[in-house]
Amino acid sequence: GPVTRWLAAMPKAELHLHIDGSLRAPRLLQLAAKHGVSLPYASVEEVEAAYNFSDLQSFLDLYYLGASVLRDAEDFYFLMQDYLEVCRVQNIVHCEIMVEPQTYLPQGVELSVVLEGFDKAIAEAKSGWGQSVGLILSFLRHLPEADALAMLEAADPYREHFCAIGLASAERDFPPANFQTLYREAKKRGYELTAHAGEEGPASFIRDALQLLKVTRIDHGVRAVDDADLLQQLAADRVPLTVCPLSNVRLCVYDSLSEHRIFDLLEQGLCITVNSDDPAYFGGDLLENFAALESELDMSREQAVMLVRNGFEAAFLPSDAKLALD
Ligand code: HPA
Ligand code: ZN
Repeated sequence: GPVTRWLAAMPKAELHLHIDGSLRAPRLLQLAAKHGVSLPYASVEEVEAAYNFSDLQSFLDLYYLGASVLRDAEDFYFLMQDYLEVCRVQNIVHCEIMVEPQTYLPQGVELSVVLEGFDKAIAEAKSGWGQSVGLILSFLRHLPEADALAMLEAADPYREHFCAIGLASAERDFPPANFQTLYREAKKRGYELTAHAGEEGPASFIRDALQLLKVTRIDHGVRAVDDADLLQQLAADRVPLTVCPLSNVRLCVYDSLSEHRIFDLLEQGLCITVNSDDPAYFGGDLLENFAALESELDMSREQAVMLVRNGFEAAFLPSDAKLALD
């Protein structure tokens, strides 16, 4: 629609993007062939037909299977390059990308290899068109906290590569309370703190992420709608929520976008941002998420501008850098 066409040319930020979730079917099949990894798909069509999810776990099973084709620095270079090209085309001038190194350990891939590939693509995008990139060291909550702590220490030599830590994967059985030592250790090291909370899990997990983990930003957070006092606190403190509309529909958090409460949250004064989460799996990049808000929820120009401005307000950037980008 017209609002989305107008937004296309506007500089935007994206703050909730899992790099493994940007691995598209053609690249997935290419890398599987390169490394002789057998997948239950014979074509791009078969891959995309499998992306039909009933909940978060049904998605995560295919997400980790897809990420298992990533084996050497060149693979990580191509993966990052593909996403940064989307940033260039969609005018996403600043992005914060979740990297989940624990995902690659079963394949014997170490963090140094991952970062070698990512660094090369990021350096090219920075010098090529001035792309701004932050990396978020994101941990897998279905694994023990001790594993996360081991990865946090393994990342110490690469501390300057990351702006923040995050917490992803299966939410419901793995509450924020399990990761208090991890977040305390990360804070000591000077990382910014964010965590997925209130996607499939309850509003109380958002409270716990704020109180127990001391996060300053919440990934998803849509279940805050169930807790009026929490909504007031989130609005008063301008705690950003990185909302992912197409993801929420594809993972059945909402039956359809028309039931999404994103504009209620925005109008209540919360710092709501729009993001794509796992664009290869959920049917759209950042601009397609805005387009869906326009077509399904009648997003106005004023709402669109607030969402875009919030993306820069919520970024893990020094405030002078935010002014330069906004
Ligand atoms: N939720 C939790 N973990 C994830 C997601 C998500 O939406 N995407 C990738 N890992
Ligand atoms: Zn996510």
